[in-house]
Amino acid sequence: MTDQMRRIALARRPEGQPVPDDFLLERGPVPEPAAGEVLVQVTHHSLDPYMRGRMDDAGSYAASLSIGETMIAQGVGVVLASRAEGFAEGDSVTGMTGWASHAVLRGGELRKLDSRVPATTALGVLGMPGFTAWQALREYGRPKAGETLVIAAATGPVGAMVGQLAKAQGLRTVAIAGGDEKCKLALDKFGFDAAIDHRAHGDAASLRKALAEVCPDGVDIYWENVGGKVLEAVMPLMNIGGRVPVCGTIAWYGGGASDKLPQVWRSILTKRLSVNGFIIFDHWDAFPDFLDEMTPKVAGGEIAYLEDITDGLDKGPETFIAMLKGGNTGKTIIKV
Ligand SMILES: NC(=O)c1ccc[n+]([C@@H]2O[C@H](COP(=O)([O-])OP(=O)(O)OC[C@H]3O[C@@H](n4cnc5c(N)ncnc54)[C@H](OP(=O)(O)O)[C@@H]3O)[C@@H](O)[C@H]2O)c1
Repeated sequence: MTDQMRRIALARRPEGQPVPDDFLLERGPVPEPAAGEVLVQVTHHSLDPYMRGRMDDAGSYAASLSIGETMIAQGVGVVLASRAEGFAEGDSVTGMTGWASHAVLRGGELRKLDSRVPATTALGVLGMPGFTAWQALREYGRPKAGETLVIAAATGPVGAMVGQLAKAQGLRTVAIAGGDEKCKLALDKFGFDAAIDHRAHGDAASLRKALAEVCPDGVDIYWENVGGKVLEAVMPLMNIGGRVPVCGTIAWYGGGASDKLPQVWRSILTKRLSVNGFIIFDHWDAFPDFLDEMTPKVAGGEIAYLEDITDGLDKGPETFIAMLKGGNTGKTIIKV
């Protein structure tokens, strides 16, 4: 094959927030599939906050990337050559392709895409982020009609799905998002009842005051996506018996966990809260049920979603760095 494979590798471990020099674009021959393997031409790959953790050496819930290894990502693409049963040239598939133009994966590591919806939905609304929202809201949020839910990063793929699912179950939904445009999206596109711009509030006390105004009956579910100032603002507003599904703490992914944590911890006691950390990878068994329920709703327009697609594999590093700071509007995707 004359084509070259391009991939973005981890060049070195970031200190704090990643910078472009932490990544390296490499070129090489397109790999050949061995028996049982499939060669995929990647058309799009996902960028997700969890990838920041994989760049560190510190032990976490998943293995670190090695220096020189291709950055991890789920991708979607088309089969170029197959030596695996059940896959043929031209099939649309998804799997963990990495930030790369081509990937060779075992047949068992790939899934064929549903033609009722665009391929890129497998990376967001009908992929890991959407599934995270669907699974953990029912298991750890335990929503009840009439309750109030608060969520930050509300226009991202997790937040938008949590908001819409909670709203459909009769909850009052309150979005926290960065900037006017995202607040407007939260209200108009994702149906939140209220939206607050966290960037307009310099400290937790100011944000809490604004939140208290739009949560007159307190907060029953705080879906934790960000940590930091937002966590500090919301916790004292929790109602007794509230639930806090702990999904992510992106405000701290570059370091700097707040020294206000002890105050937050006390709210867990005084409000008798249920705080559940979870990693969606432990729940894959339920993924087929999620797809069965949500694919027709996405295809039929009942569930709205937004994708932020950047053209060019080489744009991955800068797009990823921007996403970690809120530069994305919707699910962040690279068109390879
Ligand atoms: N536990 C799991 O298994 C699991 C699975 C999937 C995702 N997650 C976590 O879920 C969270 C959302 O993921 P996503 O893919 O939907 O991300 P996303 O919303 O597409 O992107 C991250 C967003 O976080 C917000 N943000 C960044 N820094 C912030 C800060 N200091 N304060 C407040 N908001 C900040 C920004 O939104 P604004 O501009 O609106 O502030 C940014 O757009 C992440 O923490 C992620 O790690 C966890």
